[in-house]
Formats: sequence, C-alpha cells, structure tokens
Amino acid sequence: MRVLFLLAIVSALILAPACRPFFVADDDDHEPRDTTRVLDDLCFEVHVLPTLRANCATSGCHDAASARDGVVLESYASIMSGPKDLVRPYDPWDSELWEVLVEDEANERMPPAPRSLSQFQIDVVRQWIQEGARNDVCSDSGLCDTTNVTFARIRPILEQYCWSCHSNAAAAANIRLQDYPDVVEMMTSGRLIRSIERTGSGTPMPPAASLPGCEIMLLKAWQVQGLLP
Ligand code: HEC
Repeated sequence: MRVLFLLAIVSALILAPACRPFFVADDDDHEPRDTTRVLDDLCFEVHVLPTLRANCATSGCHDAASARDGVVLESYASIMSGPKDLVRPYDPWDSELWEVLVEDEANERMPPAPRSLSQFQIDVVRQWIQEGARNDVCSDSGLCDTTNVTFARIRPILEQYCWSCHSNAAAAANIRLQDYPDVVEMMTSGRLIRSIERTGSGTPMPPAASLPGCEIMLLKAWQVQGLLP
C-alpha cells in the first residue's frame, strides 16, 4: 500500500509539468510567440518588399542615399547584406526588422508616426522571416521558387512543352531540347530565351501559347545561375 502511495506521488510529479498549458516564450519578454501564418503563398517581392519600400525606404530614412543605421530596405540584397541582426532567417523574434515594428515604446517603433503598418503587414514580415526570409519570385500564378535551379528542374519543363517537336527523335528546325549539351547550346546562343519571351526577333515558342510565367523565370534563373547540370 505504501509502495503504491509512493508510486502515485512520483508519477504525479513526473506528469504534472505535461499538464500545464504550454507557451513558447520569447527570450526577451516572455510573451507567447505568435507563429500564425497569415498568407499561403507568401512571396517577398509581392508581399514584403512593397510595404518596406513605401514605408521605410524613403528619403531621410532607409533608402540607399540615407541608409540610417546602415539599414537599406530597398531590395532583397540590400536587406540581407545589412547589419547581421536585421534579419535572422527562421527567427523573427531575434530580428531587428520585426522587433522595431512591434516595439512597445511608441517613439521607438518603426515606421515613425504618422506612418504605421497594419497588424497584417507586420504579420507578413514575421511570417516571411519565420519561413526562412527567402527571395521568392512570384509568377502570375503564385509562388515560383527560383533558388538553385539545375537542369533537373528544367528538363521536365522542356519535356512538357517542347519535346513534341524538339526531342532527339523529332527535331523541328534541327533543334533538340532533350540532352543537357544541346539545351546549353540553345541557351548560350540566346535563341531559346528569345523564342520563349516572344518579344524580339525569334520565332515565338512554343508556337501555340506562351510558357507560364514561372517556367520562363526558371529558365532565366537557370542561365543566371550558370546553367548547372
Ligand atoms: C508544335 C511544335 C513545336 C513546339 C511544341 C515547340 N517548337 Fe520550337 N520550333 C518549332 C518549329 C516548326 C520551328 C522552326 C520555326 C521557324 O524557324 O520558323 C521551331 C523553332 C524553334 C527555335 C528557333 C527559333 C529561332 O527563331 O531561332 C527555338 C529556339 C525553339 N523552337 C525553341 C522551342 C522551345 C524552347 C519550345 C518549348 C518551350 C518549343 N520550341 C516548342 C516547333 C515547335
């Protein structure tokens, strides 16, 4: 009986902490951290940058000419090459950029009155950092992740949109877009991009309708990043 009683006390002590409500505490102010996602396809260019440009990257503040406190909020590159505490990917709570937006002291909060950001705009900045502070490019149809594009990413696009006429077996205009060296050749000559952009001198490709915006951006990103296999 006594053993059972002891067991009951011991297990109560072990289990008790698990029953308490659990909050993720902020290191600094011990308030619960809000990790709500406010947007499904959040992308920097469309959802974060315009807010920063309009409210922060203004003359006398954080445009390139003024660069107050060494902070320039004009582009992804200028933000990520700023002070190291400015944006810590995955950790908005430790990122100055978010901290100044939610500063308790009204006279330290950014942007200074009469400007102000809505709660939604602040949450978007938080979510962007929380999800890694990536430089996602947006296409018409939503998110288009153009980081680390290799031929493995490009090949299925060509297969879907071009191989019916430009495979090794069926090479219209003697153009093959199946093997890596052939595709690289068409990229470096500029002919492939000219054709899919449908603007300049090249014959518009694919003939029937334009590639989706994201696919065009992926092909260009692949080129800028060095046409990696
Ligand atoms: C329905 C068949 C068809 C499809 C699909 C197609 N092409 Fe073509 N392509 C052709 C034909 C035919 C030509 C030759 C047209 C000409 O020169 O007048 C050509 C020519 C080209 C050229 C040379 C154009 C120039 O002005 O130098 C490029 C580059 C090209 N295609 C790329 C592509 C790419 C990239 C895709 C897929 C995104 C694609 N094509 C899809 C039929 C096709």
